[in-house]
Amino acid sequence: MSTFVLTRSAHPTPADERAAIVAKPVFGANFTDHMALATWTTDEGWHDREIVARRPFELHPGAATFHYGQEIFEGLKAFRQPDGSVAIFRPDKNAARFALSARRLAMAPVDEADFVAAVSELVDLDRDWVPTPDGEQSLYIRPFEIASETLIGVRAANEYTFCVIASPVGPYYPEPVTLWATPNFTRAATGGTGAAKCGGNYAASLLAAREAAEHGCQQVIWLDGAEHRWVEECGTMNILFVTAAGELVTPELTGTILDGVTRDSILTLAPDHGLRPVQRRVAIDEVFDGVASGAITEVFACGTAAVVTPVVGFAAPGVNGADRRLTVGDGTPGTISQAIRAHLLDIQYGRVPDVHGWLHHV
Ligand SMILES: Cc1ncc(COP(=O)(O)O)c(C=O)c1O
Repeated sequence: MSTFVLTRSAHPTPADERAAIVAKPVFGANFTDHMALATWTTDEGWHDREIVARRPFELHPGAATFHYGQEIFEGLKAFRQPDGSVAIFRPDKNAARFALSARRLAMAPVDEADFVAAVSELVDLDRDWVPTPDGEQSLYIRPFEIASETLIGVRAANEYTFCVIASPVGPYYPEPVTLWATPNFTRAATGGTGAAKCGGNYAASLLAAREAAEHGCQQVIWLDGAEHRWVEECGTMNILFVTAAGELVTPELTGTILDGVTRDSILTLAPDHGLRPVQRRVAIDEVFDGVASGAITEVFACGTAAVVTPVVGFAAPGVNGADRRLTVGDGTPGTISQAIRAHLLDIQYGRVPDVHGWLHHV
């Protein structure tokens, strides 16, 4: 039974046009024919749950989201399975994180079952948009929520709009990256919004990304706001370290780090790769010393988009204005990181048994 009332698009993309897009998807360039919507008001709670033809929003220029930044989002993927069916990877985790983000931004949390229903019913309807992979194509799903009340004045809005859109995405072979330890910026502070997936966090990160590029790096390694000492994340991904002692170490969730679904999945798979998962505080000096001594053998970042991105070097401010540079291992992607990436992809594409029950079949 559907939770979201369906009105099919009267003008869906012609099948041959859709097939051409799905055959060669470009990240974020094309979207499926429909979108899921729901509205929350103080009086009625969540209502008007529907799936309709994708169309532009009409919002008053005074809508609160434009001014005070009440906006949260999620990112997850649906994968074509060997038997032609479609499965979404761990949507319950994204549903829980979406509710957490909403609470932190004083927004109305979407019921987690409604979140999963919206995502599943949209993917089911637009299933022809899920690529049949000969590489690593998938359907990227973007749920988001905005404060849609017309409101000039700082308070929690009395009206929110929840929406889900989806876009076929092509093979994403992550290039190895070098990380810049910026001395000038932090991503999050204790008591701030670091554990929430809100647009403001990403806007605030862009200048640091530009600084990283100026130092020849592709991503920033974020350190904590208070001491500028403890490693938090890497660009818009979580970060993990493989040690010579057989550990897979990642910064513990202290409230300033996003609780990544990929991070959690990889920690679960670690023992299959002979690694003991460890979540604890990691100092940047420990990373630099460990990389220099060989105590850290591999470094990688992880997230839904690229799954695993190898980290092959670091740069940090050095003496006399020259950057200090460090290479991880021999400067090429590590074998364990590659094996973990392949393992996770095998689960997502249904090529190995889903022993953890991570696939939500639609
Ligand atoms: C800041 C940040 N950290 C980590 C992640 C990785 O999270 P996930 O594995 O759920 O995609 C993301 C991507 O969503 C992110 O934006």
